[in-house]
Amino acid sequence: MYRSHNCGELRVADVNKEVTLAGWVQKSRDKGFMIWVDLRDRYGITQLIFDEVRTDAAVMELAKSLGREFVVQVKGTVIEREAKNDKLPTGEIELLVSELTILNESQLPPFTIEDETDGGEDIRMKYRYLDIRRNPVKNSLLFRHKVTQEVRNYLSNLDFCEVETPYLIKSTPEGARDFVVPSRMNPGQFYALPQSPQTFKQLLMVGGMDKYFQIVKCFRDEDLRADRQPEFTQIDCEMSFIEQEDILNVFEGLTRHLLQKIHNIEIEKFPRMTFDEAMRTYGNDKPDIRFGMKFGELNAVAQHKEFPVFNAAELVVGIAVPGAASYTRKEIDALIDWVKRPQVGASGMVYVKCEANGQYKSSVDKFYDQADLAKWAEVTGANEGDLILVLSGPANKTRAQLSALRMELGNRMGLRKPNEFAPLWVVDFPLLEWDEDSERFHAMHHPFTSPKPEDMHLLDTDPGKVRANAYDLVLNGNEIGGGSIRIHDKDMQALMFKHLGFTPEQAQEQFGFLMNAFQFGAPPHGGLAFGLDRLTAILGGQETIRDFIAFPKNNSGRDVMIDAPATIDNAQLDELSIMLNVKA
Ligand code: AMO
Repeated sequence: MYRSHNCGELRVADVNKEVTLAGWVQKSRDKGFMIWVDLRDRYGITQLIFDEVRTDAAVMELAKSLGREFVVQVKGTVIEREAKNDKLPTGEIELLVSELTILNESQLPPFTIEDETDGGEDIRMKYRYLDIRRNPVKNSLLFRHKVTQEVRNYLSNLDFCEVETPYLIKSTPEGARDFVVPSRMNPGQFYALPQSPQTFKQLLMVGGMDKYFQIVKCFRDEDLRADRQPEFTQIDCEMSFIEQEDILNVFEGLTRHLLQKIHNIEIEKFPRMTFDEAMRTYGNDKPDIRFGMKFGELNAVAQHKEFPVFNAAELVVGIAVPGAASYTRKEIDALIDWVKRPQVGASGMVYVKCEANGQYKSSVDKFYDQADLAKWAEVTGANEGDLILVLSGPANKTRAQLSALRMELGNRMGLRKPNEFAPLWVVDFPLLEWDEDSERFHAMHHPFTSPKPEDMHLLDTDPGKVRANAYDLVLNGNEIGGGSIRIHDKDMQALMFKHLGFTPEQAQEQFGFLMNAFQFGAPPHGGLAFGLDRLTAILGGQETIRDFIAFPKNNSGRDVMIDAPATIDNAQLDELSIMLNVKA
């Protein structure tokens, strides 16, 4: 038996017990006649004490050789501490050691393995297994486990069946590039790793599984950000004989269950907003509704004077920043510089200070009088003491710029509180979106999403206006899930592919398996997928998903611990019939 207890469980009630513990030496303090060691395992820290009087001389000697992160087993008696530590759950006791076995030695770790570490991101990623010994990382993994377990409980109780789908498949378009895997047995042919199990879960519905879920790895070769990894995990779900309303209810229920179980927060009904409304009021399809600063469209009250910048713009739009009329010229200039950075891309910004006694002071006083500015205040909902910030230009770009500014101000002003949770359904997404590069329409969600029947007539005349039965679940300004009601009719699916620019042959070649299945009694179906990493991070009060993934990739998509990706040797390339053409 390696241990009778773990390092987090002994209390005063255990005093005088003979116990055996095993764990890592977090640190040791050697006063010569007395040595204290903090012994750590996943469950906590227990202080060990060795002293000249009560500890055998040989054990004392061995204890002096202990270095950080040595793995040891100790036997001893639980005693009450003289100096108690109320920061530690085991802080009232310590273990007077009688036997010590060094199970394994350790090199000096490259960073301190404590809550606050001196190790930078790179070194901690290289030695991720050491980082995992630290509470912040370990606790994030435990937290993720809890979320996952609650998801499994909730869905299993509703009769969802977890089914595994293959990883070596043919490309499923979800808008990103595929990772591909060469096939040795089929020279010149490649599998693609799934960007999601989308088509398989639909085939499971044709197979009559009725309610499916899977906690599943997905792979997307796309640019990485704090909330994106090349391999990530979805809670992927699909249901048959349902309408959009059923899906929203089931997964609102799941999210409510998680908030309740994890944070003891009860949220009644999640608000809903159409895509159009989200874009108009927040410039964003995943608005953070924990704070205000809603957009006010100013075209009607700003394009009647001689200010050429506004008159030439498709959209003039502003927000009222609460209490910011007191900003100095320097602070406002810094904000203007911020929106002009290439990442945001505004060409300039107009401001109006709403000062005491209903006076307005603006950067465009030359063009607008007090009555004009009062209207701006009304439209943006500005009160005395607020600062109105106005951008103008092409509608979509300007909305995106103002949205970026709103989020930045939300962050700076501490309005995005991590322990406050504001879920939101965004519904009625457009079916198609215009892609400037390829100059054609793409499916906004994916090609299997069904259009709203009442918009079908627009498919030929005004495809951009067709709305889809598609929805996203947004939590605190992050898209944590998305899905749709699917097309289940073969002809409809073929029509969709036609509108996406596929020839019938291309559609048949890529998706024949799905359209064929639709000929054998496909039930009406729909579903959604949550991003588990994102959901966990946000429930954990953070936005960086890396911290909730045991072995994440860095921003260049590398695993610096195992050093992947890596070259493979020529024999392996030959076997795969691959000739490299790498530019140095
Ligand atoms: P979608 O592409 O919207 O839908 O993905 C679902 C959710 O997965 C998460 N997500 C990611 N998380 C981390 N890193 C990434 N690179 C990444 N990409 C996506 C997001 C997102 O909301 N098959 C459809 C679902 C369906 O229609 O049922 C799909 O994959 O939180």
